[in-house]
Amino acid sequence: MAKKKWDKTFEERFEKHYDELKWLYAELYNNDMQAFEYFCNMLYDYYKARSKKLKLWDAGREVVNDWFAGNEMLGMLMYTNAFAGDLKGVRQHLDYLEECRVNYLHLMPLLCSPAGRSDGGYAVSDFRNVQPELGSMEDLAALSDECHARGISVCLDFVMNHTSEDHEWARRAKKGDKEYQDRYFFFDNWDIPNIYEKTVPQVFPTTAPGNFTWCEEAGKVVMTSFYPYQWDLNYRNPVVFNDMTANMLYLCNQGVDIIRLDAVPYIWKTLGTDCRNLPQVHTLVRIMRMATEIVCPGTLLLGEVVMEPSKVVPYFGTVDKPECHMLYNVTTMASTWHTVATKDVRLLKHQLGTVFALPKQYVFLNYLRCHDDIGWGLDYRFLEQFGMQEVSHKKYLNDYLKGAWQGSDARGELYNDDPRLGDARLCGTTASLCGIEAAEDEGNDDKLKRAVTLDIMLHAFLFTQSGIPVLYSGDEIGQKNDYGYHDDPHKKDDSRYLHRGDLDWNSVEKRKEEGTRQQKIFDAICKLADLRSSNRVFENEADTWIVETYNDHVLGIGRYYRGEKLIALFNFSARDETAWINEEEEYEDLLTGDKASAKAVCVPANDFYWLITRF
Ligand code: GLC
Repeated sequence: MAKKKWDKTFEERFEKHYDELKWLYAELYNNDMQAFEYFCNMLYDYYKARSKKLKLWDAGREVVNDWFAGNEMLGMLMYTNAFAGDLKGVRQHLDYLEECRVNYLHLMPLLCSPAGRSDGGYAVSDFRNVQPELGSMEDLAALSDECHARGISVCLDFVMNHTSEDHEWARRAKKGDKEYQDRYFFFDNWDIPNIYEKTVPQVFPTTAPGNFTWCEEAGKVVMTSFYPYQWDLNYRNPVVFNDMTANMLYLCNQGVDIIRLDAVPYIWKTLGTDCRNLPQVHTLVRIMRMATEIVCPGTLLLGEVVMEPSKVVPYFGTVDKPECHMLYNVTTMASTWHTVATKDVRLLKHQLGTVFALPKQYVFLNYLRCHDDIGWGLDYRFLEQFGMQEVSHKKYLNDYLKGAWQGSDARGELYNDDPRLGDARLCGTTASLCGIEAAEDEGNDDKLKRAVTLDIMLHAFLFTQSGIPVLYSGDEIGQKNDYGYHDDPHKKDDSRYLHRGDLDWNSVEKRKEEGTRQQKIFDAICKLADLRSSNRVFENEADTWIVETYNDHVLGIGRYYRGEKLIALFNFSARDETAWINEEEEYEDLLTGDKASAKAVCVPANDFYWLITRF
């Protein structure tokens, strides 16, 4: 291709990837070399536009390319408005984030999105502008600048599967402009959509049934896998890919360090398939990875792949041809809540065994709760051996976590309950699911104590795993469900708003009052974070294994790294239980500093131990 006079750094990075880039692009886009040339020149434009300051970060991170994989990393996920009103407000509360030990800030979607048809910001109508109530692009750049000065990385969603029906492309398509209709999936009638429907599952079976919507203005059917106002982009069209990659690089140039590739498995559609995780998706992600390595190598790609483990791991790519830098550890998250509800650790042991066997370069993002529901994507083949069947087991989990099961103090709500499929998902905050809400409502101090212990134990388990732990804003003080969404016409049909309430700053203040639930949880999480970052046994490269406890209520995890060995024990039962372990060395309780034995350890109800020994 005809190369322009390029800067040396760009040229070097480009050369490194050129052959593969060209090959993949040509294969995907039928040798459309004009589109490829446009793509390459576009990369250079964004490289040129990148600030000197960000280029310096890039240079540093190219040298220490695993900068994000250390044990000092701690993330927090939040809605800008729920946390502090707007971007300026977030900036004013950065001291608080530092107090929480947070150095990775994931701001939920904040680009322009129509009110009432936004899916929490996941229906973007303008990829270059911030939702006015939240601030401006300048505010975002200023916030990331200040975050960087404090050593905090910023993560932002890149909603790439679809645009809002109000996006300029969609508006033109509605008017009948063929060029813009070709950026989406338009059909003259329902014939082809009906064939798709035979093989494509539904994302929101009750809140947004079907994968297509009739567009009155265009007089055509349009593909809408998520909500009817979220129009799927057609990545078979190279113009879409070129322009969307440009949109992504634009965000990177505002100082965004981590790009969360929203709903990435869905971006390629082929008739007759389930339209999930198709090989072309991996080609697109690989090209985007190369694009960031060329333009902004300090940027990371975080894939949102909420799928079963066999579908998730391929998004890391290979050592030679990496795709995402990080992926969500979604199955461990769901298996954790299964364990809360069943008090039986066998599935979690099995799941962690799978994760522990993966190469250590794979960095997972671990979490207890996020803005979405908990989907019960568990290993049912494994559970079958204990007589647990998928549909009835999902019902049990939902009943338990809704508090409908006798003895359960959890308070959750169902999400997308489709009685035909029996596969409802579940919503609720960590605190409410742990029983804090029920205990406080009843004014039952004993219950509250137990619920707080469980909440802290789950955080300790989160911090024991390799990878990056990400807290959901509010969890650091045990924030409860917000039922206010029931009265909001824009939100009432989407129970995910149950756990998307505003952060209650009065409640945050209570972290300073000795003996409050807020203080207990806040201090415990800070302590866990401090211990995690100051003991190298929590490094990502540590060896990890399951410690057999001979007790199905107690999970045992071992970690070893450079002369430090940790035995972590988590009791998921509401009674004291013994972990029948027999470790020879002399241990210390990492939390208290007291001497401890690691033989037949009695772990209090819903509590945990971190036992460490140094060689
Ligand atoms: C992702 C988001 C979810 C959203 C969906 C559609 O799964 O996490 O909240 O509804 O994408 O963009």
